[in-house]
This record gives sequence, structure tokens and C-alpha cells, in this order.
Amino acid sequence: MDPDSPVLVTGATGYVASWIVRYLLEDGRTVRGTVRDPDKAIGLEHLHALADAHPGRLTLHRADLLETGSYDEAMQGCELVIHTASPFLLGKVRDPERQLVRPALEGTRNVLASVDATPSVKRVVLTSSVVAIHGDNIDMRGRGPFTEADWNTTSTTQHQPYPYAKTVAERAAWDICGRQDRWDLVTIHPGLVLGPSLTTASKSGSMATMRAFTDYSLAAGAPDLAMGLVDVRDAARAHIAAGYTPTAHGRYITNARTITMLEIGRILRRRFGRTYPFPYTKMPKRAFKMFAPVAGFTREFVEKNVGWPLEFDNSRSRAELGLEYRDAEETITDHFQQMIDDGIARRLPLR
Ligand SMILES: NC(=O)c1ccc[n+]([C@@H]2O[C@H](COP(=O)([O-])OP(=O)(O)OC[C@H]3O[C@@H](n4cnc5c(N)ncnc54)[C@H](OP(=O)(O)O)[C@@H]3O)[C@@H](O)[C@H]2O)c1
Repeated sequence: MDPDSPVLVTGATGYVASWIVRYLLEDGRTVRGTVRDPDKAIGLEHLHALADAHPGRLTLHRADLLETGSYDEAMQGCELVIHTASPFLLGKVRDPERQLVRPALEGTRNVLASVDATPSVKRVVLTSSVVAIHGDNIDMRGRGPFTEADWNTTSTTQHQPYPYAKTVAERAAWDICGRQDRWDLVTIHPGLVLGPSLTTASKSGSMATMRAFTDYSLAAGAPDLAMGLVDVRDAARAHIAAGYTPTAHGRYITNARTITMLEIGRILRRRFGRTYPFPYTKMPKRAFKMFAPVAGFTREFVEKNVGWPLEFDNSRSRAELGLEYRDAEETITDHFQQMIDDGIARRLPLR
């Protein structure tokens, strides 16, 4: 990989991609970021600031996942393509096929069609997810930690549409990669990504998850829901290591540890005190199941995920990509501090 050749980052406005762009620039690389609307007034401020801080090394290019050939022009001369663009929506999604599956699957096909048509490209790093490794937490029953050998076989457009979209998109990517031998593919599988955001405009489910700790939705108790967790800065570093480590190959679980909503609440309370509506108790599964549909979850989701343990083996990413994961305490407190600084976190009224 020529360190001076430009790197294409799709979805550069995104929560995760913004940190990838920033670290690439700090490492001295030249970056081409694709965005749907390079003229929009909100959501590009941080990228413009990065472009100003690194003159001549960051350019923004218009591209849409659903437009054939959209990525061709921006990709010319790139040896590394980091494909992150894909919607991450949690809760109730009205039209999963249109809102999740098409952009993930068609988008991956479009980006990789451009890769096939661009002779300079040597490697593609695709942002997949732990949800392409497993579907529901109940899938853990009777087995050890999930590894890169596992695939999500239980999600559909109706049950767990976001995991389904990530799974079919990643499968398509491996299939397309397998039909040629000029470029190789490395996939990154983060758990829930938290940590400070460079932008307040992201619609990522990560933001929605942390907002639940300030908008009273967890004040009556947090569901016993275990999730993988990784710091956004470590997830970004994983993509770059996957791009530039010659021996990197295959899938990499990029997950620091597993955590529950209640544990996140405890960390927040220890650091930020009692003046925010952090959860104190575990919400009983039966109670959560009752009002789950109002909160945007199906009862099937609650049944198959709440109260089940979850574990991932991240040893490949540590051994082969050299990742050292930040502590959850740092990730969560830095994220919440950012929300306070951005005016997003609301305090309880003083009694
Ligand atoms: N956050 C997590 O916890 C997490 C965990 C595992 C994997 N991931 C994966 O990480 C990637 C980034 O997620 P994120 O959390 O950073 O979310 P995000 O902030 O919402 O970023 C999503 C990006 O996708 C772009 N995008 C969406 N639809 C598009 C379309 N039709 N055409 C072009 N671009 C489109 C968005 O561009 P616009 O600015 O134009 O909307 C945005 O840049 C996704 O692949 C997600 O599945 C995230």
C-alpha cells in the first residue's frame, strides 16, 4: 500500500467515519470523503474544520449508496477504500427494506462495483458489526463466546432488520470479493460504539442509546440487556489498522467488552451524580415486555435478548491488528461529557 495514495472513506459525515477521517489525516494520509450532500449547512462543520487543519489533504465528494457508479470518480487513484456508509437505526423502523436493507446491500454492491472498475484499489475495509456474527442474545445458549467463525442466521426483515441488513450486506461483500483476486477484503465488527462524537448531526443508534440516559426513558429502570461495547476511537483505529496491516485478513470482532444498560447507568451515576435521570434498578423482563412496543421494541426482541448473557472473543483484533481497548468507564464518561458540552444532556430539576 502506497502511504501517499488517497484513501476513500464512504459516509464521511458519520459518527464512526468522522473519527476514521480525523485519524487518517493525523497520520499524514490524504483522504477523500464521500457525503450525500457536500453543500449541506449542518453536519459538515467538523469535516470543514479538519480540511482547514490539514490543508489539501481532505476533499469531499458527492455520492449516494443507491446510485450506480456514484463512487467511481472519488475512488480514482485510491488504493484503500473504507466503506462505512450505512444507516444504523434502532427501535421501530417503518419500512426496513427501504430504510435499512437497500442502502446496506445495494450500497455495498455499488461501492464494490466501483472497486471492481477502479484498477488502483488493493484493499477494501468494510464496517460490518457484531450483529452479523449473532442475531439474538439467546443464540448464546449452550455455547461459548462468539468468534469470527460465527454468522447471524436468525435475523429477518421483520425480526431484527438492522442485523439482517448488516448480515446480507457483508455476505454480498465476501461473495463479490471472491470473484476476483486484485483486491482483498477485511471486515470490522464493532459492538455498540460509544464515546465522544465529533458531530452533533449523526443519526446513529449510538446517539439514541446514550440519549435514553437523559430523556427519562430509563428512569423507571433499565432492561437487563447485554450488548457489545467499543469506544468510537478504538473502532476507528481498527479500520485504519485493518487497512494498513499487510497481513490483516478476514473478519475482526472489534469489541472491548459486554455491558448492560444498568451498568452504563451505574458508571454515569458514579461520575455525574444524581442530577440526571439515570436508572437505579433493573426493569423486570415482564414489565419491559408489556410496554416494549411503545418503546419501539417487539415482544419477540425482548424475549430473545433481555436477560441473556452475551460474550465475544476479541483476541484476533488484539493479536493481529494490535488493538488495545479503552476501558468502558472512559468511553462512557467521555461520551456523556461531550453530551453535556453540546447541551444535549438534561439535568433533573432541583428539588
Ligand atoms: N454506531 C454503532 O454502534 C455501530 C456498531 C457496529 C457497526 N456500525 C456501522 O458503522 C457504520 C457507521 O455507523 P455510525 O454509527 O457512524 O452511523 P451514522 O453516524 O448514522 O453514519 C451513517 C453514515 O451513512 C451514510 N448514509 C446513510 N444512508 C446513505 C445513503 N443512501 N447514501 C450515502 N450515504 C448514506 C450517512 O450519510 P449522511 O450524512 O448523508 O446521512 C452517514 O455518513 C455503519 O455501517 C454501521 O452499521 C455502527
